[in-house]
Amino acid sequence: GDGAFVPAVVIGTGYGAAVAALRLGEAGVETLMLEMGQQWDKPGADGNVFCGMLKPDERSSWFKSRTEAPLGSFLWLDLVNKDITPYAGVLDRVNFDQMSVYVGRGVGGGSLVNGGMAVQPKRSYFEEVLPQVDSAEMYDRYFPRANSVLRVNNIDKGWFEDTEWYKFARVSREQAGKAGLGTTFVPNVYDFDYMRREADGQVPKSGLATEVIYGNNHGKQSLDKTYLAAALGTGKVTIKTLHQVKTISRQRDGGYVLSVEEIDAYGKRVGRKEISCKYLFLGAGSLGSTELLLRARETGALPDLSSEVGAGWGPNGNIMTARANHIWNPTGAHQSSIPALGIDDWNNPDAPVFAEIAPMPAGLETWVSLYLAITKNPERGTFVYDKANDRANLRWTRDQNTPAVNAARSLFDRINKANTTMYRYDLFGSKLKNFADDFCYHPLGGCVLGKATDLYGRVSGYKNLYVTDGSLIPGSIGVNPFVTITALAERNVERIIKQDIAA
Ligand code: FDA
Repeated sequence: GDGAFVPAVVIGTGYGAAVAALRLGEAGVETLMLEMGQQWDKPGADGNVFCGMLKPDERSSWFKSRTEAPLGSFLWLDLVNKDITPYAGVLDRVNFDQMSVYVGRGVGGGSLVNGGMAVQPKRSYFEEVLPQVDSAEMYDRYFPRANSVLRVNNIDKGWFEDTEWYKFARVSREQAGKAGLGTTFVPNVYDFDYMRREADGQVPKSGLATEVIYGNNHGKQSLDKTYLAAALGTGKVTIKTLHQVKTISRQRDGGYVLSVEEIDAYGKRVGRKEISCKYLFLGAGSLGSTELLLRARETGALPDLSSEVGAGWGPNGNIMTARANHIWNPTGAHQSSIPALGIDDWNNPDAPVFAEIAPMPAGLETWVSLYLAITKNPERGTFVYDKANDRANLRWTRDQNTPAVNAARSLFDRINKANTTMYRYDLFGSKLKNFADDFCYHPLGGCVLGKATDLYGRVSGYKNLYVTDGSLIPGSIGVNPFVTITALAERNVERIIKQDIAA
């Protein structure tokens, strides 16, 4: 290796990583970010940076020979997925034995592929999940800070009521209302002013052109446009792409050495290097950070890591489901791919559910109402190190999702009953399946705050080693998680810089 030394390294460029890099840069600390995915700013042959959802190409997927879309079928036919050349595309689906996890790959991590929904958790639930964190400080200072840098904005309510693009959401709201259920508007980082101009035909369409999970060519204020742009603006932060950190070890002087593999966009190895640093921040996400620490513990590179590393993982209770509407209740051929409304039944003591009303942007009328339900599932999984394949395996069984399915079922049974409608059974694979219980968008935990780390993400057993991403959150937060990940990182990194680095 070239033995390069930098004072601080941040692994990954998702939410937690981006907060760490910005605040380190502002504190004047020379910081290197290592990202296994690409920088998404160069247009392809079609003039677009990202490919669309309905005609995916190699840009869609992280080294797959066929796309693996979450809605894999329609009328049981696999109309959506396409054969592609393996490439460093933007969306990955990590397939464990009984759970698949979708994650973003590239500068911006999950912000490149997610729905942009920017939701603060209910304060009482935040206090239940992270009781050792001062919630007053979070809700007064760090959530507002995160929302402001992320550029969270709200849909204009008058426009929402009028536009054909949100008819699907209004239909679902009315049906929920018939069952006595209330809805709430969901803030987003997609620029709703841009979307209105899309609707008016003034600018190129993105959210109104079915773009989302393979990236938005316009409108979405992903991290590369917010936190990471500000981090680079400090002049102290550098990002290296297509650099995957493989191992972490410790030097005699207490610093850390990373072995890093560099590839080209088609997966060819172009080099292996060693990079050393004094301060190391893990922001590789719940899967990535946990795997790096597990590997370090189990291979003896960092033997003093806690036995809690790998524990406390959960899918945030994610369950997708869909309903078939009556012929007189169409949901619209034109649907914005950016959700704006959620059914809020979180205060239901038997089965708390927050269900975002998701679009089914197929470009034609489907009469489908689609939902991503977030439920309170107490089941947890554990990552274990698989030595033969040098990777982390997830111990999680399908039946651990039964509490989540039951909660979603109790809510949507009510809606179906009140509207004399039924579930769709054709959208989630080959068999008769009305609840998608085998994948998630919200992996959380693996290096839980106060268990594998101290109360600020300092990794137990080692100095100057920090976790700063979704792996700190113990498996559930009750809403879409990135605002919480960002705000918690703001809180932790502020303390770490003040006490460990500036001092
Ligand atoms: P995140 O996963 O964002 O970033 C980790 C980064 O590290 C990635 O860029 C990865 O490539 C990189 N990395 C991993 N291992 C590495 C290694 N060894 N070396 C170098 N780099 C490495 N949430 C929400 O709040 N609202 C929403 O609307 C949605 N919608 C949604 C849709 C879809 C399709 C997905 C997949 C996800 C969502 N989410 C969401 C979830 C949200 O995107 C997710 O919770 C956050 O991105 C997690 O942030 P982290 O900082 O933990 O890691």
